[in-house]
Amino acid sequence: MNVVVTNLKGGVGKTTTAVYLAAIAVEKGHDPVLLIDADRQASSAEWLEERPIEGVTVLEAPSERMLARAMARHEGTAIIDTPPGDERLVQSAINAADAVVIPTRAGGVEFPRVVVTLEMIPAGTPRGIVISAARLGTNDLEETIAWWKAENVPIWGVIPERVGIAAGPEARLYRPGLAEYEPVLRRAVRKR
Ligand SMILES: Nc1ncnc2c1ncn2[C@@H]1O[C@H](COP(=O)(O)OP(=O)(O)OP(=O)(O)O)[C@@H](O)[C@H]1O
Ligand SMILES: [Mg+2]
Repeated sequence: MNVVVTNLKGGVGKTTTAVYLAAIAVEKGHDPVLLIDADRQASSAEWLEERPIEGVTVLEAPSERMLARAMARHEGTAIIDTPPGDERLVQSAINAADAVVIPTRAGGVEFPRVVVTLEMIPAGTPRGIVISAARLGTNDLEETIAWWKAENVPIWGVIPERVGIAAGPEARLYRPGLAEYEPVLRRAVRKR
């Protein structure tokens, strides 16, 4: 099972989502769990170097070739973190995906890049949006949810903005954040 976390736009919560999904996968009994880091910046690999998660193995695969091999060869569940902007690498990740998770932020300026990312996904591949760092109760958030509903794109999660999540590798994984990401994993790996 390959769960690809991607959005062509940068800074939308891809790495955060990938790390939390990998941690939740272990807790839910997935075994083995692999976190494949396809970003040359290696943010998720560095995160796990700083804060290893028991049961998660990290594999760095920052080229199309390495990524294709990594995604084809493993057993169990792999969560794939992708770089922003690199359309070719993102396309090869998406092509080998069993499910695609698209983190985004609330707000209309975000829509076009998500639409481009969505257009890269083959018709039969399950995909869902995760709204990162959401400010609950704001118009921006409500409008964003309504927009994706109208577009018939499933929203797999709305993750509130939390200091504990923003801390990244500087602190241990934020428990309530794990609980927020749990339904996202469940929807991504659901048998269809
Ligand atoms: N729920 C949240 N609450 C608060 N801050 C968050 C939340 N989710 C993500 N962030 C913060 O948003 C910033 C961007 O997140 P992240 O690095 O995961 O995005 P990215 O899409 O991987 O970025 P890049 O495109 O540079 O790889 C980080 O500072 C992260 O801590
Ligand atoms: Mg990242």
